[in-house]
Amino acid sequence: MTKSVAILGASGYTGAELVRIIAGHPDMEIAALSADRKAGMAMADVFPHLRHLDLPELQTMDAIDFSGIDLAFAALPHGLMHAFAKSMPDHLKVVDLSADFRLRDADAYKAWYGLDHTAMDLQPDVAFGLPEFYRDDIADARITANTGCYVATTLLPLIPLLRAGVIAPQGIVVDAKSGVSGAGRAPNEATLFSEVNEGFKAYGVGAHRHMGELDQELSLAAGRPVTVSFTPHLVPMTRGMQATIYAAGDANAVHDTLVAAHQDAAFVDVLPMGEVPQVQHVRGSNRCRIGVIKDRVKDRVIVISVLDNLMKGASGQAVQNANLMLGLDERAGLMMAPMFP
Ligand SMILES: NC(=O)c1ccc[n+]([C@@H]2O[C@H](COP(=O)([O-])OP(=O)(O)OC[C@H]3O[C@@H](n4cnc5c(N)ncnc54)[C@H](OP(=O)(O)O)[C@@H]3O)[C@@H](O)[C@H]2O)c1
Repeated sequence: MTKSVAILGASGYTGAELVRIIAGHPDMEIAALSADRKAGMAMADVFPHLRHLDLPELQTMDAIDFSGIDLAFAALPHGLMHAFAKSMPDHLKVVDLSADFRLRDADAYKAWYGLDHTAMDLQPDVAFGLPEFYRDDIADARITANTGCYVATTLLPLIPLLRAGVIAPQGIVVDAKSGVSGAGRAPNEATLFSEVNEGFKAYGVGAHRHMGELDQELSLAAGRPVTVSFTPHLVPMTRGMQATIYAAGDANAVHDTLVAAHQDAAFVDVLPMGEVPQVQHVRGSNRCRIGVIKDRVKDRVIVISVLDNLMKGASGQAVQNANLMLGLDERAGLMMAPMFP
């Protein structure tokens, strides 16, 4: 039976990407769309590329009647979902794309986001939304916290390697790059064309918010505290994300471990040994591609992971999680090929 979904924050980039995916989904239909400043507008006026679709008008979240809706995607800024989750109807499931439920510890949430976690009673039952490692939890969950985009890019290779013990948990370096859509659509001086074009900059150096999630999940995978060096960069492209990871370990063992870990994963491709993945080869798809290269430094390995931040880094992954939560085929609506060039 077709599942009815709402998209909260449909006038943002990840919201629009959810609409694009669900428009081609065989088992979902869009019942409601929300916005804040753009409430009352037609989706076609906010996103003319979606003009051909028959979509509900944007309305405020408060105005949505959730009674006939099976699942809501929440593509909102962090800080809004604790209150929503505490008052939402019992039948409703939620995939939250924000950071509000990603951290299992209230102090960590406060430290990284500067806010009190006001729904800690719900937190233990929230699934961490990386299906490749938490599939069963997600299938049973009422709320799933989609991972951060840098986090998905980094964890898809690193969790299997730490679990298997084929890389040393100390001294891991994650050098990451993001396209500008990662910052969302709300106006922001730092993402103006003239600030980004023909440039390249590191940001959040030594203190990016995704470090909290990385610490949490990498430590769980290793069974001991793990802290990685992580530096994100903003690059002048619209979509795309890459993590270039340096670690101590044998490259062949690393490659074998990743091939085995992801052999049944519909959306993770481990390339043949020595091949280098590119962001252009995953754009518009829900795929993560991983390459393993032997470093010239003895006993070190370079692992490169790429995905589309709006797809496997956000909305594609959200639909993958929703498919599991709704008892649908995990791949439904997500098998589109990448766009190239
Ligand atoms: N962009 C990415 O690549 C990416 C990747 C992974 C995770 N995420 C996370 O996904 C969430 C959405 O990101 P985005 O890039 O889509 O952001 P965005 O483009 O800035 O869109 C934000 C959406 O939230 C709505 N909104 C803003 N403030 C609101 C409020 N106080 N009450 C109700 N609605 C409000 C906006 O409505 P108006 O347009 O009407 O103001 C818009 O629809 C964020 O938590 C982000 O961290 C983003």
